[in-house]
Amino acid sequence: MREQLNELVRQAESDILACQNPNDVMNVKAQYLGKKSLLNGLFARLRELPPEERPAFGNQINESRNRIEALLEAQSTKVKEAAWNTREGGKATDMSMPGITSSRGGFHPLTIIRREIDDVFLSMGFEIAEGPDIEDDFHNFDALNTPADHPSRNLADTFYLEDGSLLRSQTSTVQIRVMESYPPPIRIISPGRCYRNDKPDPSHSPVFHQVEALVVDKGISLADMTDTLSQFASIMFGANVGSRIRPHFFPFTEPSAEMDISCVVCGGAGCRVCKHSGWLEMGGAGMVDPNVFKTLGIDSEIYTGFAFGLGIERIAMLKYNIPDMRILFENDLRMLRQFKGESR
Ligand code: DAH
Repeated sequence: MREQLNELVRQAESDILACQNPNDVMNVKAQYLGKKSLLNGLFARLRELPPEERPAFGNQINESRNRIEALLEAQSTKVKEAAWNTREGGKATDMSMPGITSSRGGFHPLTIIRREIDDVFLSMGFEIAEGPDIEDDFHNFDALNTPADHPSRNLADTFYLEDGSLLRSQTSTVQIRVMESYPPPIRIISPGRCYRNDKPDPSHSPVFHQVEALVVDKGISLADMTDTLSQFASIMFGANVGSRIRPHFFPFTEPSAEMDISCVVCGGAGCRVCKHSGWLEMGGAGMVDPNVFKTLGIDSEIYTGFAFGLGIERIAMLKYNIPDMRILFENDLRMLRQFKGESR
């Protein structure tokens, strides 16, 4: 019986090596390892051996089986590879292989939010206007009715370039550029970068983004402003987000206001994000000051207008629950990758 087993393994080896394709391998496998195989027959015949010899021979049968299995496996891989490589062109494609994926870029969260803001205002009939980042005193301050001794003109607040120009500290500059170029009616927004000599901290960055809005026409009132603001808040943050204005002062608006929305985190009940006030500050607003119109040759007896400026970082931080503004500018890929799916 031992001899028979050895002979069986030798025969199996040569039959396996002779296999040319996966089908041959399958047949040989059935022949040597199947239910009716000689190997199984030998197991049945263990009884014929004296009891003390049975365990050793049983082991030998098992080892032979393992060896045949290993040979079959190796031959199977070999014939499959050979089949792939002999296909047309010498190099075949294995359609079951996972593809080579290339990673896809996405938009920065500030870009995603800016585009969302654009869409909200475009849907209300606004157009998008642009102005330069490098500005002059006239557009950043003078035409905006800002007195010569106003603190925001300080070197400590505004970045001046050597030639006397400056990096705009607000997108309100674009109001002036638009009113210089086009007669009313005007209905624009202007999203863009602003610069201030601020130390970076959780809510400040020397570079930040605002979106400016300006509407000038006959009969524009404060109610148009509050309505536009509440529309914006409910589209951007949800139908039940409310808004309010509080009296404030800006040189270029009269009256001036600050705009709040009800806290999007606690719904107005009071929480850490809204400092327990129930409200979140969104930016400044007001009715265009007649002095601004005068500088630009627009008759304030005929036309009125409102304007406001929103902080884009603030909106992005609220929408994405980002606790520190600096995170938006560090561009850590682990943060940016979380926004991959949101490109369009
Ligand atoms: N430019 C102001 C700022 O940076 C925000 C602002 C206030 C914009 C009132 C306006 C406005 O258009 O009417 O703080």
